[in-house]
Parts: sequence; C-alpha cells; structure tokens
Amino acid sequence: MTKIEKVGSFESKITVYVVVCWVLAACGGLMFGYDIGISGGVTAMDDFLIKFFPAVYQRKLRAKEDNYCKYDNQYLQLFTSSLYLAALVSSFAASKMCSKLGRKPTIFVASAFFLCGSLLSAAAQRIWMIILARVLLGVGVGFGNEAVPLFLSEIAPVQHRGAVNILFQLFITIGILFANLVNYGASKIHPWGWRLSLGLASLPAAFLFVGSVVIIETPASLVERNQESQGRSTLKKIRGVEDVDAEFEQIKMACEAAREVKDPFKRLMKRSSMPPLIIGVMMQVFQQFTGINAIMFYAPVLFQTVGFKNDASLLSSVITGLVNVFSTLVSIYGVDRVGRRKLLLQACVQMFISQTAIGAILLVHLKGSNSLDEGLAGLVVVLVCLFVMSFAWSWGPLGWLIPSETFPLEIRTSGFACAVSSNMLFTFIIAQAFLSMMCHMRAFIFFFFAAWIVAMGLFVLFLLPETKNVPIDAMVERVWKQHPVWKRFMDDYDGKEDVKNVGMII
Ligand code: BGC
Repeated sequence: MTKIEKVGSFESKITVYVVVCWVLAACGGLMFGYDIGISGGVTAMDDFLIKFFPAVYQRKLRAKEDNYCKYDNQYLQLFTSSLYLAALVSSFAASKMCSKLGRKPTIFVASAFFLCGSLLSAAAQRIWMIILARVLLGVGVGFGNEAVPLFLSEIAPVQHRGAVNILFQLFITIGILFANLVNYGASKIHPWGWRLSLGLASLPAAFLFVGSVVIIETPASLVERNQESQGRSTLKKIRGVEDVDAEFEQIKMACEAAREVKDPFKRLMKRSSMPPLIIGVMMQVFQQFTGINAIMFYAPVLFQTVGFKNDASLLSSVITGLVNVFSTLVSIYGVDRVGRRKLLLQACVQMFISQTAIGAILLVHLKGSNSLDEGLAGLVVVLVCLFVMSFAWSWGPLGWLIPSETFPLEIRTSGFACAVSSNMLFTFIIAQAFLSMMCHMRAFIFFFFAAWIVAMGLFVLFLLPETKNVPIDAMVERVWKQHPVWKRFMDDYDGKEDVKNVGMII
C-alpha cells in the first residue's frame, strides 16, 4: 500500500487490491496478444498445413517456385482473419452489455468464449471446426477489448490513468511473446505441436476467467445502473481512503449527463462529436496501416521468405516479440513526460526508414526463387526489430489510449466502441490481404506501408492535438475548442464539462 496521493480534490492510495484488479483485467490483453502471435507460427507448421491446407503444403514443397507467393491462400488467411471479423461484430454487442449489465460480466463472457474457442481449436479435426473455433475466440476478443480498457480507465486513479491504460498494451505484447515462445517449442513436436500452440490459449483465458470472478465492478458502472451505495463503497475500497466525496460526486454528475443522452450513437453523429470520432477512428486505422500485423501475424512466414529455415524464423519472431515487450515499457515511462505527439512523430520517422530499407533490400536482392545471404537476412531482422520497437512505444499503446481519453463522457463508450471496431476491421483487412498483397506487390508492399506512414505523420503534425496533462473532462474546453482546425466543429456543442474537481491526467 502506498501513501495517499492528492490530485485536485481526489484522494487515493494504490492498494494491493486495486493492483490485483488491474493485472487480472489486463489478462484480456494477454488473450488478444496470444492470438495475434500464435497464428503466424501455426500457419508455418507443416503438420498443421498437411492436416488443413494440403494445397498450401504442396506449394511450399515446391518452394523454389516463388518466394513471394508460396503462402498465398485465401483459406489460410481466413484462418487468421476470421477471428477479427467476429471481434468486429461482437464489439457492438459488447458495448451494449457493458452499459446494461456492467464491465465485470462482459469480461466474464469474454473469457468463457475464449476458453471454448481455445479448446475447440486444439481438438479440431476439420477445417470448419478450426474456423468456428476462431470465431469463438474472436467473440472473446471483441468482448474483452471493449470492456478491459474501459474497466482499467475507470478504476485507475486519475493521475495514473495513462500508465494503467498502457498496461493493456503491455499485456498484449507479453501475450504475443508467450505465443512466439510456445510456437518455437511446439514446432518441434510432431505431428501435434500445433494443437499445443492453439490449446495453450486456454491459459490466458483461464487467468481472465478467474480474474472476472475476483475483480470488482467499476463505481461508474454501478452508479450508471442505479446502485449508488454500492458504487460509493466500491470507490472507497479501490481508492483505499474514506473520503471519496469529490470523486463520487463527479461520477454521479457524469452519469446523470450521460443518462440524458438517450441514443449515444446518434449523438456521435453531431458535428461537435466529429473531432474525437475522427481522431479515435483514424488512430486505429493508421495503427493497422503501419503494417505492424503483417509482421506480428506473418513474421515467421516473412522470415522464411527471406531464406531462414523454420527454426531460425520462429526464433527471429521470438526476438521481435522481446523487443515489442521491452519497448512498451519505454512508452509507460515516456508518454506523460514527452507527450503523445512527439512519440508518434518520432516513431513515424523510424518506421518509415525501416520499412523502406526492408523494401529496398528485398527489391534488389530477393528475386522469385533465391534466398538472401546470411548477412542481409540478419539485417532484415534488425530492421524489423527497429520497426517493432518504434511501434511499441507509440502507435501501439497510443492507438488505445488516445481514443479512450478524448471523447466527452456522454459519448465515451459508444465512441470507444467505434474505435475498437475500426481496429478489428483493419486488422481483419491486413490479416486477410497481406499474403496476397505480398504475392502481387512483392517487395513494393513495404513501400506501400511506408507511404501510409508518411500520411499518418502529416495527420499527427496538423490534426492531432496534444492531450498530455489535460484533465479527461476538460478536453472540449482545453483541446477541441482551442485547436486551429477542430474548433470550427465545436459550435453545436451543448454538453457540460466539470473542470472544478478534476485532477490532471498523466
Ligand atoms: C495492436 C495490435 C498489434 C499489437 C502489437 C496492438 O496495439 O492493436 O494489432 O498486433 O499492438 O503489439
């Protein structure tokens, strides 16, 4: 238990219980990350291909045929991408459940779907079973990704909201790394290693399952559903202090204002909702068009493409996974010190250089049927690491943080649902299209992502306001109404902002 911290008139301690709640809920990130990391390795395993995708396996045997096209298969991509389609659809149902029944049961449902999906995928005998399992996992991800960041933000003391929110991303990266390690070990077990890879997804699901029982409902959700006295006692419990009046009053006010808005999705269509909506959605679209998931899903495939053997390519994915985890820690430390814009802009430069360099090496040295010499293949791994590193301290965590802190309260959950589903939609598109794109565009695929990186850099430069140290309930007054471009949208804003009691968001 730490000493009492005071921000504005809010008091809090970081209690053991609240930390346990953060960690257990953040296991939702673990589930999401495990899925992202596992599919690439599994689709590179021969036993898995022989069982479900024999045509791809045959093509791989004739590997010399064409480096860029050997994995191009719509079904194989559907295996990876079906999860995100299911997540996209279910995140809207999840947002309804979140507000009608609460965050805790939504997290419970997420873990239950996830558990079923992981067991079915480990036991699958036919292709439809494996796709159905992916859909179940996807529903789990949709529910988890909607409820977990919201839950974390709502139970974090105001001054730690940024860092607590990034815990979600940290757990995503740990999930990806864990999956990479499992794939590395499981690929040596024949012929059922892939079952182990897919089945072990039940581990993070089980953590979250236990977590969903142990965690507390958030005070905001309780008050929103007319359970005021429970809301107050919960707030005391998670803040570790007796005097929670100021914060409780603010939650009540916010809930009253939010209750007045009968249809939050309709409200989202107002002109004054456009600035945070455009920012929230574009952050997610751009996050995906960095090309990160081309690497997260298909790193082993990519590394095989440049000429590594199976083992070396899985090991290289483990290395990128480690870089991903440790660079996220940089973001936790830096996001409130250097600010969001600087991190994003710095990363654009680093990502642009690495993507164009990878593209140039492949363009010059990787033809249809050769492989890169060892030095160059090693250089590609280094460049991939540089790319992942910069993503991990910028567009990764901030893609989730910025949409969660820039909507005014009355449209926060509905706006966030739009951001989550945009993320899922574009993750789906990349997962479904990347291998075909690589087959058709060849090395130019990397220049394609580099061009997007230029666009997102310009977007940040001209359109993204800095939100570091701006209180979450003062965004309209202090950010949107002051911004040279976005202030023109704010003339029909009629919401109320309570800035009296609010502490600084760091
Ligand atoms: C993104 C994922 C990505 C991961 C990589 C997350 O923020 O939403 O799509 O795979 O970061 O660490």
